[in-house]
Amino acid sequence: MRPRAFVTFPLPAEALRLLRRTARVTSYDGPQPIPRATLLAGVRDADGLLCLLTERIDAALLDAAPKLRGVANYAVGYNNVDLAAAAARNVVVTNTPDVLTETTADLAFALLLATARRLVEGDTLVRRGRWSGWKPDQLLGRDVHGATLGIVGLGRIGAAVARRAQGFGMKVLYWNRRRLRRAPAGARYATLPRLLAASDFVSIHVPLTDATRHLVGAAELARMKRSAILVNTSRGPVVDEAALTRALAAGTIAGAGLDVFEREPPGPAALRGLPNAVLAPHVGSATTATRTAMAMLAVRNLTAVLTGREPPNPVARRQPRRSTPSARASARSTRSR
Ligand code: DGY
Repeated sequence: MRPRAFVTFPLPAEALRLLRRTARVTSYDGPQPIPRATLLAGVRDADGLLCLLTERIDAALLDAAPKLRGVANYAVGYNNVDLAAAAARNVVVTNTPDVLTETTADLAFALLLATARRLVEGDTLVRRGRWSGWKPDQLLGRDVHGATLGIVGLGRIGAAVARRAQGFGMKVLYWNRRRLRRAPAGARYATLPRLLAASDFVSIHVPLTDATRHLVGAAELARMKRSAILVNTSRGPVVDEAALTRALAAGTIAGAGLDVFEREPPGPAALRGLPNAVLAPHVGSATTATRTAMAMLAVRNLTAVLTGREPPNPVARRQPRRSTPSARASARSTRSR
């Protein structure tokens, strides 16, 4: 009997075709996001789950899916998945790295440029018919070329942003938990406080973990230059949004370009009235080509798990099988918690 896969959103046709070669597929095609009760019912008989970053894959969900072997998250970030709960139930979790790196870096740079050059304010002026003509002091922004860019988290996407910065003649600093032996794109290591103090632009590219939640809070924002701009395309909770709102309103930093928020949706009511914030609805990877590539990769990950092969992008490995009777009993009791 072919395994069952539950998909929480409409897959692009070619990804659905690929998944159907291996599994009997049920997809939720209703308005997003899938209601929790529908998700719990959908996974009841599923061997595999292909899901979105907006769905909480926790112990309760895993317990509602006794046959589940794999969770393929359609995102590079997987803070929505309880990895320990998955590992305890022998469920493999996968993500979609690499295929969205360049697209997300494009968006980070777009936000950086849009905020520096006040593009949304300009668009609003023209669109509302309020532009009365060329003026020497109208919408003066900040130069990007030659400025210093601080990258918080020089992983795949951070490095892709650093490469773009090279083309703008920017000096690039980076901070990582671990200093790299050889950093790409001429990036130079700085401690986080030094990076914040020295950068004209700060772009965040760390994953959301317990260690990075509110990594940038009031104290960190206070270290930044008054002329500096913060860009966040990683996860909203990495930045303390209330502190950021205060800093933008008081002008202790110059601006922010944000693709992610602490609560999504609806996004930040308090930031909406601030002209020095450019706000995007979590569209870092949103191009047709990249979203299709993410779907294909998520399917490849899931079909690998369902056919007993090593998936290309595991983020949590199957626990080694324990063989003693007491270990088997304890595994069973963990599974049914
Ligand atoms: C991710 O993949 O984690 C992004 O936030 C959405 O593409």
